[in-house]
Amino acid sequence: MDRSALSQTITHSSMLAAMDVALVAARRGIRGANPLVGAAVLDADGTLVTGHHRGAGTPHAEADAMSAARAAGIDLTRATVFVTLEPCSHHGRTGPCADLLVDAGVPHVVIAVADPNPAAAGGAARLRAAGTTVTTGVREAEARAVNARWLRAVGERRPYVTLKIAQSLDGRIAAADGTSQWITSPASRARVHALRARVDAVLVGTGTAHADDPRLTARPTPEAVQSPDAGERSAAGTGSQAGAGPEAGADSEAGAGSAPASPLPFTQPVPVAWGMRDLAPGSHLARDPRTVHLRTRDPHEALETLHAQGIQHVLVEGGAHVAGALIRSDLVDELEVHIAPVLLGDGLPGLADLGVTTLSEAVRWLPDDTTGDALLTEACVPSAPSSDADIHSAPSSDADAHSAGTATSPPASQDARNPDTLLRFIPDTRHSHPTAHTKDS
Ligand SMILES: NC(=O)c1ccc[n+]([C@@H]2O[C@H](COP(=O)([O-])OP(=O)(O)OC[C@H]3O[C@@H](n4cnc5c(N)ncnc54)[C@H](OP(=O)(O)O)[C@@H]3O)[C@@H](O)[C@H]2O)c1
Repeated sequence: MDRSALSQTITHSSMLAAMDVALVAARRGIRGANPLVGAAVLDADGTLVTGHHRGAGTPHAEADAMSAARAAGIDLTRATVFVTLEPCSHHGRTGPCADLLVDAGVPHVVIAVADPNPAAAGGAARLRAAGTTVTTGVREAEARAVNARWLRAVGERRPYVTLKIAQSLDGRIAAADGTSQWITSPASRARVHALRARVDAVLVGTGTAHADDPRLTARPTPEAVQSPDAGERSAAGTGSQAGAGPEAGADSEAGAGSAPASPLPFTQPVPVAWGMRDLAPGSHLARDPRTVHLRTRDPHEALETLHAQGIQHVLVEGGAHVAGALIRSDLVDELEVHIAPVLLGDGLPGLADLGVTTLSEAVRWLPDDTTGDALLTEACVPSAPSSDADIHSAPSSDADAHSAGTATSPPASQDARNPDTLLRFIPDTRHSHPTAHTKDS
């Protein structure tokens, strides 16, 4: 059936305005394996409702916006749907959005940017074949900018990379003697466990593997996996290996001090060790049959190997050398920095071998402007002396990586007195790093 006769007549400026609203909705999502996508439904009388994608397994933006439209009493057979990314045409966890739009009888779909993912692309053609009017390229540059790094990761056939650094005010990730547990607060560590619960893999260098014997499992609080911030997979209920990682559920939990009462519906991330050295026999990572050991120092090769294993989003938790190597190669798509209000002086810097020798070579970042992943920025206040003692007295035997372990935690009250500052950044693409894109040997 040719639905185009039912299309509204919309001026170009109205199209731009509606797509702008969809782009604002897109920024309410969270970055990761999936792109940020927003949608807007424009009624014949000018009413506009929006929707957005909240993470893997949750309704796509078009479906979310159409639900809102139905709830608002909008007749979809006379509406125009604006979407910031081409509707998918594949059967993923949620079914093809192109089919949803066709089935709903939407006569006109306006798309900002085509989907570069071959598995999902083809939605525009599917819509046209069904008689839907399709307009493409509206606010394309803006839509590309929202997902610039995701688009690049897909194009480079590598995982999307989130780097997390837990550091002191003076940029140290460990004290001079190597102790680093815990620099950051229980709240920061709980957040990292929630982040681990929505990535495909968690990576550390062999230096950190030897120093800390981490497990790299996700041990989020039930509250954390129920929030959009952390719960992409839990919201979907798709975790086929719920709590299935080694020792999952056996740990005393995630920094915040409360153990989950029952296995949580998320998939444990794949633990990854990166470097040429063997893992210590008997270490957590050596004993975990799922551990992937990347025996290379080439960041591109490391990420290509992970991509070939189906890993679409990797969380890098350090240490300084692997973090530096990834940034130097311009392979970090998102940077999350947890800054604890402590000073460590002659400790270990958070990044090694960045290759910056003069200010003009600085690697520049922009604050992430998405709003879906709650950003906690707190002013630091001088803390009571006891909190220093808390940090340094944590036992090292029950090690895990820095902001995400199970060792004795500072008392929860420290959090309120002494909050960390959490900052999220994306690369500033206006300044490319001079040594980026070169392959490490
Ligand atoms: N506060 C935090 O957030 C945090 C997080 C992690 C670690 N840490 C602390 O950081 C310290 C460990 O840091 P680190 O820098 O020594 O360890 P790292 O970055 O975890 O590991 C360094 C090792 O990674 C391997 N590697 C693989 N690709 C590389 C590349 N392209 N360039 C350089 N190295 C590469 C090399 O090992 P091979 O010789 O095996 O090839 C290298 O020795 C520990 O004290 C740990 O407690 C703190």
